[in-house]
Amino acid sequence: MTNTINLFTGKLIKLTAPRNEDAAIMAAWEEDSVYLRNLDTDIAYPRSVAQLEEENKPSSGSKYFRLRTIEDDSLIGFVVIHSIEWNNRSGLLAIGIGEQNNQNKGYGSEALQLILRYAFNELNLNRVGLDVIGYNERAIRAYEKAGFVVEGRVRSAVYRDGEYSDRMNMGILRSEWEKINN
Ligand SMILES: CC(C)(COP(=O)(O)OP(=O)(O)OC[C@H]1O[C@@H](n2cnc3c(N)ncnc32)[C@H](O)[C@@H]1OP(=O)(O)O)[C@@H](O)C(=O)NCCC(=O)NCCS
Repeated sequence: MTNTINLFTGKLIKLTAPRNEDAAIMAAWEEDSVYLRNLDTDIAYPRSVAQLEEENKPSSGSKYFRLRTIEDDSLIGFVVIHSIEWNNRSGLLAIGIGEQNNQNKGYGSEALQLILRYAFNELNLNRVGLDVIGYNERAIRAYEKAGFVVEGRVRSAVYRDGEYSDRMNMGILRSEWEKINN
């Protein structure tokens, strides 16, 4: 093994720890209900700066990163492996690129590549799973590009604007990731 690769750095973005100034920027992202309604199935409600400062303290069950551009170090999102079960070598992934003008630029896809390399080569996990709402086609496309496959579908799990949507379960195994990346 040669230890020559910086696991935290890609071509466009890098994975960093949270910084003090981040919470105010992230609170502004949460004023966009489109973002919140793509992020998860909870009732959309923006968190305060104080709430955002409190969360995501380091713990053994999760590895939480902020996403910053290489170009100017600006905060554009977050990515996390959470609910880690060390005995089962498995964890769950969540990701968010905050502003609409930073979406669709390849940042999310690169973040997925970085976090999967970290999950499999540093955390030594065997499986990474996630949930995504069926209407979030951009996220599903980004996950499929990264190698995730649909493993299940919880029917009519989300009810918004008078319509039901499915919640999809996706996952990737280490062996599948190795095939794509070697
Ligand atoms: C989902 C998310 C992480 C994707 O990251 P991103 O940087 O915007 O996406 P990328 O530019 O890397 O890739 C998006 C891909 O989806 C495609 N796409 C965009 N809109 C699409 C749509 N409506 N239907 C299908 N594919 C779509 C893009 O063309 C691109 O694929 P390509 O590279 O083959 O052209 C980001 O948009 C985001 O955080 N959104 C808000 C919160 C969220 O949805 N989080 C995920 C919760 S499960």
